[in-house]
Parts: sequence; C-alpha cells; structure tokens
Amino acid sequence: MLGIIGAMEIEVAELKKQMKNSNVTAVAGMDFFQGTLNGKEVVVVRSGIGKVNAAVCTQVLADRFQVSAIINTGIAGSLKKEINIGDIVLSTDTVQHDMDATGFGYPVGQIPQMKEFSFQADEKLRALAAECCLKVNPDIQVFQGRVVSGDQFVSDKVKKNWLTETFHGFCTEMEGAAIAQASYLNHIPFLIIRAISDKADDSATMDYSEFEEKAAKHSVNLILAIVQEYSC
Ligand code: ADE
Repeated sequence: MLGIIGAMEIEVAELKKQMKNSNVTAVAGMDFFQGTLNGKEVVVVRSGIGKVNAAVCTQVLADRFQVSAIINTGIAGSLKKEINIGDIVLSTDTVQHDMDATGFGYPVGQIPQMKEFSFQADEKLRALAAECCLKVNPDIQVFQGRVVSGDQFVSDKVKKNWLTETFHGFCTEMEGAAIAQASYLNHIPFLIIRAISDKADDSATMDYSEFEEKAAKHSVNLILAIVQEYSC
C-alpha cells in the first residue's frame, strides 16, 4: 500500500475527494485516510508544515499502516533559473539545509554520526513518475535533482544563492528531507514530488499566493497517474 503525504490541505484535498471507501484514523493530530484511489489501496494524509510534522507522519505510516512506499506531493521554491513556476521536480536525493554541525567539522547539511550526507529516493518510483509526468503534464518541464528542506520559507536572493551554491539543490521546501530520512530509517522506498510555486527569491511570497493552487494541481495530477501504474 502506498502512503501519500502532503503538508497542506491544498496538496491532498483532491486526492481525498477522489478516494473511495475511505476510513479515517486520527493519530498524532493527523487524519489518515485509507481507501482506494484509481483502484489501488492508499493512505493519504496531511502532515502539517515543517520537518517535525513530516517525520512524525512518516513514522505513523510505517508503524500503523505498514506502507510499502511513500510519496510526498507538494509545492516548492525553485533554486534554478531554468526551473519555472508550474514545473515539477522529482527528488534524486534530499538534504536538510538547516542541519549545521560545522562547529564539529561536519559539512553543513550533514547529520552528525550518520554516514549518509543525503537520502536517496527510490529509482523505480522516480522513473515511473518521470514517465507519467510526460503523459499527464505535457505542457510543463519535469526535472530530476536534489530537494533541499528546512524549517524556513525561503524568500530572499542571498539565501537562495547560498542554497544553490552549497547544496546544488533544484528546489527548496519544508518537509521532503524529513520524510526521506524517516523513510530511510524504516527501510521504506520514497519519492518527493514538488511542483514549483515560486522562485524562492524576493518575489516568492507574492508568487506563492498566486500560484500555489495551480502548482499543487500539477503534483496531484501526477500522483493520480502514478497510483494507477504503481504495483507493490
Ligand atoms: N514551499 C513553496 N515555496 C517555498 C519556499 N520558497 N521556501 C520553502 N518552502 C516553500
């Protein structure tokens, strides 16, 4: 069974609407909707915003629902000139940009005493998502690259440039790396799918308000197609 996490209602509302026979289980202040989507068994949940909510949510999916894979749908700020509002980024891997133990000699982003610098998304899920995206969102570009996450809405050029130069990220958001790490710890394959709502610069807050809904729709379209093709 697939677990599907969105941080905000706008990112999961349509999925919940299209689900059949769903049962709701409330755990840790989150409602887990289990049922069928496009004929496949799934659990859809709104985690709430930020890394802690995302990690707790992932752990519940592992413990209570024994999901076979986790997909995170949502929106993000672009970190590259060529990645435009509306485009989609599929995670190759994820890093937490606000993890900083440089005082102990670790590179910024590195979690002390863990061997991984970044957490690798599942290649099969990523390939399936790339294929599906071309079919259901033919009018936009799909990129595959690193997603950088932190408990921060990035809305200035200096921070954006630092993220790009330091981590070579493709987009930034506030949950993906936490979902990735929690999935890794539970040996669950995962993929982060993010549609771009803004450029993470001085225009980010305005663009975000204007484009969040449209961007979220691209990600949801893609999820629906993946669910249809996915076999666990
Ligand atoms: N989600 C969407 N846009 C974002 C941004 N600029 N920073 C962090 N999270 C985001």
